[in-house]
Amino acid sequence: MEQQEIYKGLAGVPVDYTAISKVNPETNSLLYRGYPVQEVAANCTFEEVAYLLWFGELPDEGELAEFESRERTLRGLDHEVKRVIDALPATSHPMDVVRTAVSFIGAADPATPDDSAEANLDKAIRLFAKLPSIVAYDQRRRRGEAFVEPRDDLSYSANFLWQTFGELPDLEVVEAFDVSMILYAEHSFNASTFTARVITSTLADLYSAVTGAIGALKGPLHGGANEAVMHAFAEIERAERAASWLDEALTAKRKIMGFGHRVYKNGDSRVPTMRAAFERMAAHYERPDLLELYVALEEAMGERKGIKPNLDYPAGPAYHLMGFDTETFTPLFVASRVTGWTAHILEQQAANALIRPLSVYNGVDQRQVPVRAGR
Ligand code: CMC
Repeated sequence: MEQQEIYKGLAGVPVDYTAISKVNPETNSLLYRGYPVQEVAANCTFEEVAYLLWFGELPDEGELAEFESRERTLRGLDHEVKRVIDALPATSHPMDVVRTAVSFIGAADPATPDDSAEANLDKAIRLFAKLPSIVAYDQRRRRGEAFVEPRDDLSYSANFLWQTFGELPDLEVVEAFDVSMILYAEHSFNASTFTARVITSTLADLYSAVTGAIGALKGPLHGGANEAVMHAFAEIERAERAASWLDEALTAKRKIMGFGHRVYKNGDSRVPTMRAAFERMAAHYERPDLLELYVALEEAMGERKGIKPNLDYPAGPAYHLMGFDTETFTPLFVASRVTGWTAHILEQQAANALIRPLSVYNGVDQRQVPVRAGR
């Protein structure tokens, strides 16, 4: 076997430059285009963040108004997209539904082969505007409910909740949801973003890259963890059982979803902001028991393993309280992260190099194909 160093999982390997975000585990910080994510979450809307990620600067009032009105006109879903979604079994995982819908939109868009930055930005804004309709429609159809048309008098997050539930929740809920969208929007070269960049590097179209990224996000080691957190909470049931549940899970060598991170080893920079939003939701919906369970598992995990929560840990129960089905949590992540993915697709295109690493062969040595009699 060849003896050569490999970088399993590309851990710790920088593969390119990016000007979109900076994750700094030493200072436990995350910057979007230079702005600390906590400040962004406290002072900006998700629409402003999408604009920032794509254009590099926060919009002024005029730019924001123009951007918002463009996004609001694109929220509707074509009849054909609804038909494609309806053709899928109600038992399909919502991530499969979202992936299929995005793939269909790409197949049907005459602009798909146009890979100019302008055309791709246009496609990115379309997907951004339409994903809430797709995610909301899928949750509703699984509940036997009809599509709710988007409203152009509502913000992105208010409209998302309107289309999902057919009614508007209190402003506090809309704000907590908006914070979650902001925090999920971008995180440098995570697995799904890297997938999008790999696909883009072959000069494939933007929809192919986003479809591939959705596939990468589905796994529980990545975006699927927010859904898995809620499954764990359902198993544990109440705070008093958290420590014994954890001991059993660790003995069985299970990974505890919502804990740990490839880059942050001392806590995820986004958690304090999302935890505060979850706490507000627990108070709003009068569910102190869920917060107690959250704290009990976090403390037990800290004692047993010294591993801290990641963003999916507070996001999962917050979405649960807002009324989303557990299987819808990761599609919510898609709706947000499509902004970061497409910013990276544009960046990759602007300075492209085919991403094609090497492997070290560890199979059998070279040998001869046996010659069979009569051949
Ligand atoms: N539960 C139990 N043990 C853990 C966990 C966990 N959640 N995370 C890390 N460890 C242990 C792991 O078993 C290993 O121990 P040992 O050295 O004894 O074998 C050690 O910590 C190092 O872990 P690793 O898996 O080698 O670290 P990694 O950088 O490859 O993995 C991770 C990072 C996120 C995949 C991992 O922490 C994990 O599986 N977490 C659970 C899934 C999860 O919450 N994913 C969301 C990630 S962040 C947000 C997002 O992308 O959605």
